[in-house]
Amino acid sequence: MKKILITGGAGFIGSHVVRLFVNRYSDYHIFNLDKLTYAGNLANLSDIETAPNYTFVRGDIVDAEFINQLFAQHHFDGVIHLAAESHVDRSITDPLSFVLTNVVGTANLLNAARQAWKNDLANHLFYHVSTDEVYGSLHDPKDFFTETTPYDPQSPYSASKAGSDHLVRAYYNTYKMPVVISNCSNNYGPNQFPEKLIPLSIHNIKANKPIPVYGKGENVRDWLYVIDHARAIDVIYHQGKTGETYNIGGFNEWRNIDLIHLLCRIMDKKLGRAEGESAKLITFVTDRAGHDLRYAIDASKIMHELGWKPSLQFEEGLEKTVEWYLANTEWLENVTSGTYRQYYSDQYASR
Ligand code: NAD
Ligand code: DAU
Repeated sequence: MKKILITGGAGFIGSHVVRLFVNRYSDYHIFNLDKLTYAGNLANLSDIETAPNYTFVRGDIVDAEFINQLFAQHHFDGVIHLAAESHVDRSITDPLSFVLTNVVGTANLLNAARQAWKNDLANHLFYHVSTDEVYGSLHDPKDFFTETTPYDPQSPYSASKAGSDHLVRAYYNTYKMPVVISNCSNNYGPNQFPEKLIPLSIHNIKANKPIPVYGKGENVRDWLYVIDHARAIDVIYHQGKTGETYNIGGFNEWRNIDLIHLLCRIMDKKLGRAEGESAKLITFVTDRAGHDLRYAIDASKIMHELGWKPSLQFEEGLEKTVEWYLANTEWLENVTSGTYRQYYSDQYASR
């Protein structure tokens, strides 16, 4: 049985990746390593927690001794690394946490893998999950990020992710570590922490609270349904070429303000409100410091070389997302009140 270590599996994207691998590959044993920060929530995985091919390990990737022991104990065949501090606004107020988890944490995993795999590198894989934000901000409407776009990160978050990408490539070049990297655009869907634009707006609209739109709402993001990202990770893990980078995105750009108006229309319909009611909550607020203007991914490489494509249209995915948040009020209440943290802290000793 192959042993795969997935880091950050209790978070938003990681939980969808863990579920997909546990359900699809009964010949793999999936180890989910997560520190359970504010963003980690094991309730995201309640449907698979008793699966025979799944084990949860609570731990911190910044703790090198612990990571080395874990690799020595389990002989992982592969790593899919998603654990990170992921929210740009938090990186502006607390950049050091991002350097520690995203840069030092990734270096610890690479070191442990290098040590554990040194006699048989070719039969292993280190898959690093990254972001399109490493490429910086687009200003010409005709431009797209490709795999060869030079790195130009603008926030402490994207700089720390760029640092981790560079380390992964350095281990490939220097030690011949078998690696693959993907850089994905903005994800949305079930289980996203309600600090990010779409779940925060759904939560506020439902509660009749202001929807904070930064600046004039003219910034553009390229949105992909989270399960389509998880499917892309599966394809890249199994068919991607060692040493390569793959950009993931759905050719789906939206100005924030247009997205919020669409969301308001869906919410009016679902909540039985008069059309235009929810949009009255839109409130323009002070812009994010250093706010990147536009992200847009050219996903031709993964589409042509690996045959992946998104399965959902945006309107359909957004409607499904709204329905999920309206049906899972307990999840949302536990997350916004912090109840979920106490419960899992009690269950798993922290390191
Ligand atoms: P998230 O914040 O929802 O989840 C991150 C997970 O990592 C949490 O479960 C958290 O507990 C865990 N974690 C944090 N620090 C840790 C540490 N020191 N040790 C062990 N575990 C730790 O993030 P997400 O949105 O699911 O993003 C997952 C990955 O995908 C990140 O690497 C992110 O950069 C990347 N990514 C995210 C998006 C997006 O739109 N959300 C897009 C592209 C790439
Ligand atoms: O592009 C991929 C990245 O997408 C990931 O690497 C990050 O982990 C993920 O958080 C996301 O980053 P963004 O900063 O683009 O996502 P966020 O949801 O925070 O913001 C989306 C846009 O909406 C952005 O232009 C800022 C704006 N915004 C955000 C919030 C939280 C608002 O206008 N109001 C808000 O309250």
